[in-house]
Amino acid sequence: MLELLLLLLAVPPRQAAELQLGLREPIGAVSPAFLSLTLDASLARDPRFVALLRHPKLRALASGLSPGFLRFGGTSTDFLIFNPNKDSTWEEKVLSELQAKGDVCRTWPSFAVVPELLLTQWPLQEKLLLAEHSWKKHKNTTITRNTLDILHTFASCSGFRLVFGLNALLRRAGLRWDSSNARQLLGYCAQRGYNISWELGNEPNSFRKKSGIYIDGFQLGQDFIHLRQLLSQHPLYQHAELYGPDVGQPRKRTQHLLRSFLKSGGKAIDSVTWHHYYVNGRSATREDFLSPDVLDSFATAVRDVLEDYWLSLLYKRLVGTRVLEVSVERADVRRLRVYLHCTNPQHPKYREGDVTLFALNLYNVTQNLQLPKQLWSKSVDQYLLLPHGKGSILSREVQLNGRLLRMVDDETLPALHEMALAPGSTLGLPAFSYGFYVIRNAKAIACI
Ligand SMILES: *[C@@H]1O[C@H](CO)[C@@H](O)[C@H](O)[C@H]1NC(C)=O
Ligand SMILES: *[C@@H]1O[C@H](CO)[C@@H](O)[C@H](O)[C@H]1NC(C)=O
Repeated sequence: MLELLLLLLAVPPRQAAELQLGLREPIGAVSPAFLSLTLDASLARDPRFVALLRHPKLRALASGLSPGFLRFGGTSTDFLIFNPNKDSTWEEKVLSELQAKGDVCRTWPSFAVVPELLLTQWPLQEKLLLAEHSWKKHKNTTITRNTLDILHTFASCSGFRLVFGLNALLRRAGLRWDSSNARQLLGYCAQRGYNISWELGNEPNSFRKKSGIYIDGFQLGQDFIHLRQLLSQHPLYQHAELYGPDVGQPRKRTQHLLRSFLKSGGKAIDSVTWHHYYVNGRSATREDFLSPDVLDSFATAVRDVLEDYWLSLLYKRLVGTRVLEVSVERADVRRLRVYLHCTNPQHPKYREGDVTLFALNLYNVTQNLQLPKQLWSKSVDQYLLLPHGKGSILSREVQLNGRLLRMVDDETLPALHEMALAPGSTLGLPAFSYGFYVIRNAKAIACI
């Protein structure tokens, strides 16, 4: 913080850059599920860690980001094998009791003490998983009924829709998809009444590298059609969403695979999915996060700059689905990124017609923004996120309007307090900060 203050003192205030806002009509809309989560399927490797999903703290953190999709997927998807006969009966008994009482969302009674021990063991488990990943040796893992129960409970009790990735690498003679294991898994989930959306396989473009099996787009399309048929055999899944093919970055060969997949199986899916990586979270450098080139690869990949979570939470609270036009005069717009949406109408404090401006400053000096004249009389609520403490922008802690953000207790998120700015104020964005500004009573026609 001291560093930052010195920086602020050293740099003479610049003239504020004027914002142009389009308040008449939206230029687009995003889904309320925008900003969703993936839970890496390698979690299933050790059922003890799956059980961490019963931790009240995780539930509370996840609930703060709902609504959204919770995708259970990743490389391990294609190495998971469902075993309906392997389980701890104790877990099932507790679940059945809670279900009978209509109380599945209660956190596990006897679980309060176990997680602490598990949490201390997690770093070792993470190392193991990372090592396996870098050796490119993938072991088959058993997934049990319990794991499915816990996943579904975690998702539905925190307001998420579960998207489950089925193993696409089970093959008959290395060619056609062998659906017998998926059939068992679907049967179990349908019997429990779990309303789930589905995927088949993860990054099929690199199947050969991961397993030695090569599947072309045509075959994969046929496999999806086969899965659609299986789904339609269960009344619960007759209209279930099926997403695919979850290819990696669509470069040349992958594009070819995607094209032939769509031709062969496009009619079986509800949405086309591909994976975009801004940076590799394990090897990314500080410069990567600040590089406009990296960010330009997909306009909104900024959440990691300041510890994911709080930024995502503010986004979910303050930002609605309708997208408005905004631009900044002069300034390198790649380093000063501004977005404008209607304010989330669910927020108790704000009204129809309010708008939320959010901006990311990738400059190493403060940038000042000025609202257009017609909004100078409006009150503005500022929510300014800055890294907290010594780590500067690599800090894992974040402050909101100068106050450290931290959970109140295991089940309670902190209040997100705004700072009211005087009408007509310039919006000052310190170096490397992220700010949300709710312009109150803006009466934007697009948001009414
Ligand atoms: C499953 O959930 C989806 C999305 O929430 C919903 O549209 C659908 O009606 C549900 N299906 C059933 C059978 O309840
Ligand atoms: C800010 O970045 C520029 C280059 O982008 C550099 O020349 C300058 O020294 C930096 N200033 C500070 C205060 O770090």
